[in-house]
Amino acid sequence: METKIFTSDTLPEAAQILKNGGLVAFPTETVYGLGGNALDASAAEKIYRAKGRPSDNPLIVHLANAAEAEQYCHTDAVFERLAALFMPGPLTVILPKRENIPSTVTGGLDSVAIRVPGHDMAHRLIALAGVPIAAPSANLSGSPSPTCFAHVLADLRGRVDGLVDGGDCDFGVESTIVKMGDGVLRLLRPGAVTAEALRDAGFPVEIDRAVLERFEGRPECPGMKYRHYAPSSPVEILDGSDDAVYAFLEDKTDCGILCFDEDTVLLKRPHALSMGSKSDSLSQAHNLFNRLRAFPPLPVIYARMPARAGIGLAVFNRLIKAAGYRVLSLQDGKQS
Ligand code: TXA
Ligand code: MG
Repeated sequence: METKIFTSDTLPEAAQILKNGGLVAFPTETVYGLGGNALDASAAEKIYRAKGRPSDNPLIVHLANAAEAEQYCHTDAVFERLAALFMPGPLTVILPKRENIPSTVTGGLDSVAIRVPGHDMAHRLIALAGVPIAAPSANLSGSPSPTCFAHVLADLRGRVDGLVDGGDCDFGVESTIVKMGDGVLRLLRPGAVTAEALRDAGFPVEIDRAVLERFEGRPECPGMKYRHYAPSSPVEILDGSDDAVYAFLEDKTDCGILCFDEDTVLLKRPHALSMGSKSDSLSQAHNLFNRLRAFPPLPVIYARMPARAGIGLAVFNRLIKAAGYRVLSLQDGKQS
């Protein structure tokens, strides 16, 4: 399939493809999305095919304005408050869907995920298309979400109708996903709208178990059950002090190392990459997927444990998933 490349100047042409039932990948402030008309079941089927994604994993419906949400789902007072505070922005809210959203889009669920991206090109593309846009992250299923145009090209060229080049994404991790239930806001996926920010705004927040640990049951957020974000090499997380991590890695030669700017001893080694400063979770989020894609194939990539506060919880969540939940607890250079 021929894949056309669009820029800010040619968005109307890209929007026309979406209107006609085709697929276009586009930048957002979180990661790139692979868009199709959310009212068209066959466009959703094309998305699942292009990504190689299981069709029981529902898609997020992207709108130009939060006020349109009522047309596609049953909104409530909590949604109105969330929308006033955090939309447009990196927040997705799960709500009961209306009939006009095909069940193909929601993976058979009777709820739908709604998001209003804050990225200018995303906003203009959706507004020009004049329809809600279903869009998962624009990666091939199983690989890390694309945070720059080169990743989208690598994954989707030849598989979709169009790609919009919008440079690098700001946040680098996918949107925060929340669902209201029993008077609490359940955090199904952490992102740049942090649990702390939601609590500060007066919402009682409960972090879903699947965010923090392997969960064998049926997760609220179907995407949580898939091994995600994985680079081509296995990842293991090292949980320990600087000295314990340095001692553990001392005699390990044939490995990748994902560490912090401050780990200058490690950064001298081959295949060592920094995700950012140790205390700068925002940079770590911005760099994480990019770094995971940058490693050559290796027997193992050892990653340092990120801090879990703020957007750091999103970094932690994506990293433990990339690692298939393999965490080594280190004491004095030994595995405990
Ligand atoms: O930042 C983002 O959210 C990006 C950009 C493109 O907007 N999109 C994104 O989509 O990350 P995707 O498809 O890669 O992840 C959507 C997640 C999946 O884990 C899916 O299971 C969950 O949202 N989801 C979608 N609809 C849901 C629903 N009705 N109930 C529970 N979880 C849902
Ligand atoms: Mg995804």
